[in-house]
Order: sequence, then C-alpha cells, then structure tokens
Amino acid sequence: MKLLVTGAAGFIGSNFVLTMLESYPDTRIVTLDLLTYAGNLENLQDTGPYGDRHRFIRGDIADRDLVRSVVSEGFDAVVNFAAESHVDRSILDASAFVRTNVLGTQVLLDACREFGVGRFAQISTDEVYGSLGAVGAFTEDDPLAPNSPYSASKAAADMLVRSYHRTYGMDVVITRCSNNYGPYQFPEKLIPLMITNALSDKELPVYGDGMHVRDWIHVRDHCRAIDLIIGKGSAGEIYNIGANTELPNVRIVEHILARLNKPESLIRFVKDRPGHDRRYAMDSSKLNRELGWEPQVAFEQGLDETICWYIEHEQWWQRIKSGEYMNFYDTWYGDR
Ligand code: NAD
Ligand code: DAU
Repeated sequence: MKLLVTGAAGFIGSNFVLTMLESYPDTRIVTLDLLTYAGNLENLQDTGPYGDRHRFIRGDIADRDLVRSVVSEGFDAVVNFAAESHVDRSILDASAFVRTNVLGTQVLLDACREFGVGRFAQISTDEVYGSLGAVGAFTEDDPLAPNSPYSASKAAADMLVRSYHRTYGMDVVITRCSNNYGPYQFPEKLIPLMITNALSDKELPVYGDGMHVRDWIHVRDHCRAIDLIIGKGSAGEIYNIGANTELPNVRIVEHILARLNKPESLIRFVKDRPGHDRRYAMDSSKLNRELGWEPQVAFEQGLDETICWYIEHEQWWQRIKSGEYMNFYDTWYGDR
C-alpha cells in the first residue's frame, strides 16, 4: 500500500501517519504539507524509526504543478487532511479557507483523476451539517447547513468530491468526524487551549454561557475509523464518525481545572463566537453496522492522558504560543 497523506504535519494527519506506519509494516507514506502556522514537523518526529517508509514534501495542495508532479508517482490512495481548520480564524478572514479547503481539494481531485489514484479519501467534519436542537444526532442523509466560513468551505469541498464520483466515476469516500482531542493538537482549539492556559495560570476564555455542546472523540479512534474506511468503505459513500460523548464546554473546562488543581476563578465567560453552533452530535451507526467500528478510548481516560501529554510536552506548546500565535490571540480575544 502506498499512500499520499496531505496536511500530515497537523494534529490529526500526524497521528494518522503514525498509526498507519505502526499498523502496516508494508505501507509506505508520502506526506505533503505547506507547514502553515498549524503545521509542525515536530509532530512527525516519531516517524523517525520507520526510515524510508515515510517521505515528507513541503508544498501547497492548491499548487497544481507541484501536486501533479507528486501524484504522478502513483498512489493506492490519497488522504486529504490538509485544511485551514480553525473556525475563529475563518471568522476573521475566510480567504485562506476558500483557497486551501475548496481550490486545494479540486486540484488534488484533478491530479488523482489524471494519474489514476486508487481511492480519494476526503477528511471532512460534522460541522457541515450545521447546528442541532436539544435532541437528535446527525446522519449521513441530513442536508448540509454550514454556519461558519470554515464549515462552508468544508461543505463545498465535500460537494466537489461527491461530484467527481458522480461525473467521472472516481473512487472516493468522505468521512465526517466530530470534535477530536489528543496529542499534538494546536493550542488554539478548546481542550489544548484550556490545558495550556491553566498550566500558565492564564484566564480560560469560555464563549457565551459555556453550554454549547460538542461530541468528543479521541484522535486515535478517529484514525482507526479512517483506516477502516479507506480499506473497506464503499466508493462514493459518506461515513459519520463519533464516540457518543456529548458535553457542554464549561464542564470540560471545569474538569481540566480540577485535574490540574487550579481554581475555577480562572474561567472567564467572554463574548460569544458569531454564528456559534449550539450543539453537535454524531450518529455513527452506519460505520458500526457496515464496517464494525467502535470507539475504544473512554473520554475521561483519554482526556487525562491528553492533560499528561501537554504537561510532558511543555516545550512543544511554549514554542507555538509566541509570535504569530500571540498576534492572533490578541486580535481575537483582546476585546471579548
Ligand atoms: P490542523 O490545523 O492541525 O492541520 C492542518 C494541516 O494542514 C497543517 O499541517 C497545515 O500546515 C496543513 N495545510 C494547511 N493548508 C495547506 C495547504 N494549502 N497545502 C498543504 N497543507 C496545508 O488540522 P486538524 O485538526 O489536524 O484537521 C485535519 C483535518 O481534519 C481538516 O481537514 C479538518 O477539517 C478535519 N477535521 C478536524 C476535526 C478536529 O476536531 N480537529 C474534526 C473533524 C474533521
Ligand atoms: O466538530 C469538528 C470541528 O471541531 C472541526 O471540523 C474543526 O476543525 C475543529 O476546530 C473543531 O471546531 P470547533 O469550533 O467545535 O472547535 P473549537 O476547539 O474551536 O471549539 C470547541 C468549542 O469550544 C466550541 O463550542 C467553541 C468553544 N470555545 C472554543 C475556544 C477556542 C470556547 O468556549 N472558548 C475558546 O477559546
């Protein structure tokens, strides 16, 4: 098996590459990543022992010439994690989101079609479905109703992927997962932001009333699901991925503070995110029924492991939380 994995220097992509190298001694992986503010080669350092089974290329998925030259070497599958992934940044400026998430996906699809790649896997998100009321869960048949520029760009990409299957008969699969947590998550996202701010005795900014609900899954469970879908999923299908762990944001923040022996007075309720989706919940029964997937990591255990990981990897996140990161932080949180 030879894979091209884009966005592999980010959070989920790096965890996926490691999972695949560990699980399949015959798999070779080429990774392609632009190394934006969110990309970090340190996230791939654990691939070292796998030697020449992994090769990294720095580049932009929207760069047609580069992508053609990479894809022309031939792959059994291309797995597209590359994206601008942070909702808050998309509210400040959507340009990079449209360029990478929409145009970049189209460029990859064109190259995969031209060079006959076996399967194209698009890593999408539950956010394309919009927001839920108090009950129910998203299924694969629900209409798309994205509410942020980020989720709109991901929904547009999903539509392109679907159209390349319908129009050209390309073998594609789309995965839509809920909120991930685990090692190497960039500390702009809720869980690593709250852990690292608490470790630094800084305020923890919780949007609105803190009762927005997310459905959490450990990144390892997400990666196992993607592996299964690439290998056994049906062409043209969409698979929801979630671990049935719905929690209001403020409960998670309180849990983190308790584990770190920090006072709840560090919590600061701030002005809400515009267009903030109230609740997400994923129905992943199709994935369970058709491919036998089940989550394995219990949330409390996974969160405690994640907290320990950030305690042990302080240099990793301290290096990130400076420079460009602080410019964004001040702009976004400054007047909230
Ligand atoms: P991330 O921001 O940590 O990583 C994104 C990676 O993409 C970075 O390494 C970045 O350098 C790279 N990248 C950005 N623009 C690029 C470009 N033009 N060309 C090549 N590389 C580029 O994101 P993540 O949280 O790991 O998310 C990965 C994927 O999973 C995204 O597509 C996201 O939409 C999706 N997803 C994320 C979650 C989540 O909870 N984090 C949940 C569901 C789906
Ligand atoms: O649901 C999947 C999505 O999860 C992915 O597609 C996105 O790439 C990923 O970023 C994530 O999006 P969210 O917007 O849900 O994640 P975020 O970590 O930004 O926020 C989680 C919740 O916490 C959300 O309700 C907003 C809230 N929040 C977030 C931050 C950063 C706060 O209350 N305060 C904060 O400072």
